[in-house]
Amino acid sequence: MHHFNYKQGRLHCEDVALDTIADDVGTPVYVYSSATLRRHARVIADAFDGMSCLIAYSVKANGNLGVLKTLAAEGCGADVVSGGELMRARKAGIPASKIVFSGVGKTRSEMRLALEEGIHQFNIESSAELGVLAAVAKSVGKTAKVAVRVNPDVAAGGHPNISTGKAGDKFGVPWNEARQAYAQIAETDGVEAVGVDVHIGSQIDDIAPMRAAFEKVMTLVTDLRADGHDIRRVDLGGGLGIPYKSGDNPPPPSAYAKMIREVTEGMGLEVILEPGRVIAGNAGVLVTEALFVKPAPQRNFLMVDAGMNDLMRPALYQAHHDILPLRERGADNEQVRYDIVGPICESTDKFAAERDMPRIEGGDRLAVMSAGAYGAVLSSQYNARPLVPEVLVDGDRYAVIRRRPDFDEMIALESMPDWLS
Ligand code: LLP
Repeated sequence: MHHFNYKQGRLHCEDVALDTIADDVGTPVYVYSSATLRRHARVIADAFDGMSCLIAYSVKANGNLGVLKTLAAEGCGADVVSGGELMRARKAGIPASKIVFSGVGKTRSEMRLALEEGIHQFNIESSAELGVLAAVAKSVGKTAKVAVRVNPDVAAGGHPNISTGKAGDKFGVPWNEARQAYAQIAETDGVEAVGVDVHIGSQIDDIAPMRAAFEKVMTLVTDLRADGHDIRRVDLGGGLGIPYKSGDNPPPPSAYAKMIREVTEGMGLEVILEPGRVIAGNAGVLVTEALFVKPAPQRNFLMVDAGMNDLMRPALYQAHHDILPLRERGADNEQVRYDIVGPICESTDKFAAERDMPRIEGGDRLAVMSAGAYGAVLSSQYNARPLVPEVLVDGDRYAVIRRRPDFDEMIALESMPDWLS
């Protein structure tokens, strides 16, 4: 469910016409719906009502401060994977006690920062990382609370590039080395085992692999407790898929929560979740303007002013995003088949191939739907294009929450070596 709908023939975000924002801010522009962000956070929180559960929103999906602050107000914590994400979460008012630090390659300085902030938990992914974290913790006189991210060897995720829980993926400690890792923690000063962590992939459209992974984790919790470890939390990661097009039917949060309740029943565990896409994905769109149409022998190319540098998902994962005109067309409108492409000098700069659309003319505006997660965060300045601005809507008001940099700002970090100046 989201709050992007046609009203009087114009596509709106909540009560604001997207055309109004495009006129004001220009295109391309990301537009996010506060009501949708809040709704998604609440649906998840309600599904876990009565359980000891921390919803640690995965900042990597969309780390804009306005988005984080909106979610902080809903009580969300944060799952971060860098010092930068940690600072963003803190700046948005998320308490350190609700922050978990994931990721395969934390640096010493990131570990130190997180220890000084006093975060809830480190999810560690190797014995080597554990050793470094223990050393850093001792050097600052703290004890790091850790969960070991285990690799349950379960395949899941909407695309091979976003599957993370198979043996052979770089993520997590191999299943048969997990108990050893906890034995290492018990013998090491500076670290204390508090939980077990797992994350098997993203855009998962089936409960079964998640259940399989989580059931395996529960057997590990039992074994670890028998080994004498005080395991009181499980972090079950993120990964719940969202509908990108009609016919997509990912499990609803209620089914996901029911499964987790069943699997963790009677275990006396605090459950931590790291949802990203399911909260932010359908809460954002990328508004772009059609530049011109180039009829070609086999297909019509529709050039738009957004490129793969602004939204990488189609190029990276062959991801489907619905694309809607901002001005609604009648049902009898003629359909034309387009390849919708951006201006970047790369063949993969394509938002849709052979997509049937109402006839589009240069100057028409389009919304690339479901772009709230892994959209702006993955954008770059490739081809010296300014980073795309972001706008947050709340009811009938909107605000620019990241502005488009001007040319001087784009080059501000560069300096000329003295032999060239
Ligand atoms: N926790 C961990 C440890 C993760 O690696 C991820 C995502 C999440 C939580 C959040 O997963 P979510 O609930 O959003 O599925 N750029 C790709 C997705 C990469 C996901 C990376 N990890 C895409 O656009 O599809």
